[in-house]
Amino acid sequence: MKKAPPFLNRHGQVQCLFTAALASLLVLGTARLVLDGLKNSHSPVLQLLSRRNPVRLPVNVSDEDVVEVGCNVFEGKWVWDNGSYPLYTEESCQFLVKQVTCQRNGRPDALYQNWRWQPNTCKLPRFNALKLLEVLRDKRLMFVGDSIQRGMFESMVCLVQSVIPDGKKSLQRVPPRKIFTAKDYNATIEYFWAPFVVESNSDNAINHTVRKRLVKLDSIAKHGKQWESVDILVFESYIWWMYKPQINATLGYPYNVQEYKVTTAYRLAMETWARWLEDRINPHSQKVYFMSMSPTHLWSWEWKHGSKGNCFNESHPIQGPYWGTGSNLEIMGIVRDVLGQLQIDATLLNITQLSEFRKDGHTSVYGERRGRLLTKEQRADPKNFADCIHWCLPGVPDTWNEILYAHVLQDYRSRKIKPPPAPAPAPARHKT
Ligand SMILES: *[C@@H]1O[C@H](CO)[C@@H](O)[C@H](O)[C@H]1NC(C)=O
Ligand SMILES: *[C@@H]1O[C@H](CO)[C@@H](O)[C@H](O)[C@H]1NC(C)=O
Ligand SMILES: *[C@@H]1O[C@H](CO)[C@@H](O)[C@H](O)[C@H]1NC(C)=O
Ligand SMILES: *[C@@H]1O[C@H](CO)[C@@H](O)[C@H](O)[C@H]1NC(C)=O
Ligand SMILES: *[C@@H]1O[C@H](CO)[C@@H](O)[C@H](O)[C@H]1NC(C)=O
Ligand SMILES: *[C@@H]1O[C@H](CO)[C@@H](O)[C@H](O)[C@H]1NC(C)=O
Ligand SMILES: *[C@@H]1O[C@H](CO)[C@@H](O)[C@H](O)[C@H]1NC(C)=O
Repeated sequence: MKKAPPFLNRHGQVQCLFTAALASLLVLGTARLVLDGLKNSHSPVLQLLSRRNPVRLPVNVSDEDVVEVGCNVFEGKWVWDNGSYPLYTEESCQFLVKQVTCQRNGRPDALYQNWRWQPNTCKLPRFNALKLLEVLRDKRLMFVGDSIQRGMFESMVCLVQSVIPDGKKSLQRVPPRKIFTAKDYNATIEYFWAPFVVESNSDNAINHTVRKRLVKLDSIAKHGKQWESVDILVFESYIWWMYKPQINATLGYPYNVQEYKVTTAYRLAMETWARWLEDRINPHSQKVYFMSMSPTHLWSWEWKHGSKGNCFNESHPIQGPYWGTGSNLEIMGIVRDVLGQLQIDATLLNITQLSEFRKDGHTSVYGERRGRLLTKEQRADPKNFADCIHWCLPGVPDTWNEILYAHVLQDYRSRKIKPPPAPAPAPARHKT
């Protein structure tokens, strides 16, 4: 017997039929319809499919799912597109936390939801939740980092959850993790609180010190243990380092606390992370991404000369070029150095520039502070209470996930992310 070509096995015909059926349903109706159909449809195609090849379909990655060769998706501009965006709504995603639901929290304008990122020389692939879930079948996708990364995790959950019927999806909180499960796919999308990536005294996801930060620059094994078997890891760490020009840290025995220049400490921590990756990650079965820094918009004089505000009351993106002083170029250089020297493949998703333009996308006074929504009085005092670090959802992190999507599908197509092993072939009915 011949070996099956990439997207077809000996049940190839059935797969093609299924793909066609899926495509036509998607055109006609919502994705929800398809999944409901999958579960209990009496359609002969689906019955045949479930009998002969129970849902283990490799994904058909087309050119529309990946970034065009030669296109830098990180260079471009934001264009108004209220026809396609937002990709979901606050109401349609039950998994959003209060911190990010700016509309529900009283934000008067919603324009920030309607911008599409347009790379200069290509289109961003359209997010297809069904395809991504299929790629994630029997896999774990984990976002590791701080609360910015948690926003990206929540965005990803919202982007995929609408195609999963109720009862087939769940979100568990198991600090320091959050785990979204897509049951029928045996797939999880997870978040892991590790604001410095390496260990620190802020690793308790619920009760952590903000002011007395202490980082253990050469320690990662303890929480790294819980990342070891994850198939797709997405790391991020920046804002927690940037509290002061110096940071208290320990490095090696006897663990004396010392003040380090932030950039020195950041480099040491990144090198610890890099060594851990080389040691613990199997580049043939696991894939690693690193998110560049998420920009802040704390001082409006940076984009509006003479003004004294912050991101509060901003309703439109900045028309480039623009780079805020909050995005430290020395740190960017350290990220480039460390990723460049890494012995295994880790992909940088350089979302800083595109997010720099989005002074309008932050939660501002329509979010939480220390776990509580702002009071009326606090809201009236944006100078002291606006949050110009975190992002409303739907919003900017959705674009980060569209870019991640394009990379994941590309890496799946080139087999850097492996499809699950093919199911045992059904016994042939007729000898040929
Ligand atoms: C994969 O998708 C492309 C474009 O959507 C289509 O032309 C092709 O027939 C599909 N292949 C399979 C095996 O379904
Ligand atoms: C979309 O934006 C255009 C231009 O601002 C506006 O005329 C139109 O009413 C908007 N459509 C919706 C559905 O909001
Ligand atoms: C579910 O996925 C995990 C990996 O995340 C895998 O170890 C396990 O075998 C899968 N279970 C089934 C029933 O395929
Ligand atoms: C939070 O942690 C601090 C220091 O470890 C401790 O003193 C305090 O009791 C903790 N608070 C709660 C609510 O657990
Ligand atoms: C480091 O810790 C010492 C002792 O707690 C404190 O006085 C100092 O301000 C800390 N340095 C920084 C940069 O936070
Ligand atoms: C917000 O900006 C608009 C103009 O864009 C201005 O008219 C309004 O007074 C501002 N609101 C506050 C509270 O600053
Ligand atoms: C990320 O992009 C910015 C500009 O868009 C660039 O200045 C920076 O060097 C890039 N970072 C890395 C690590 O390549």
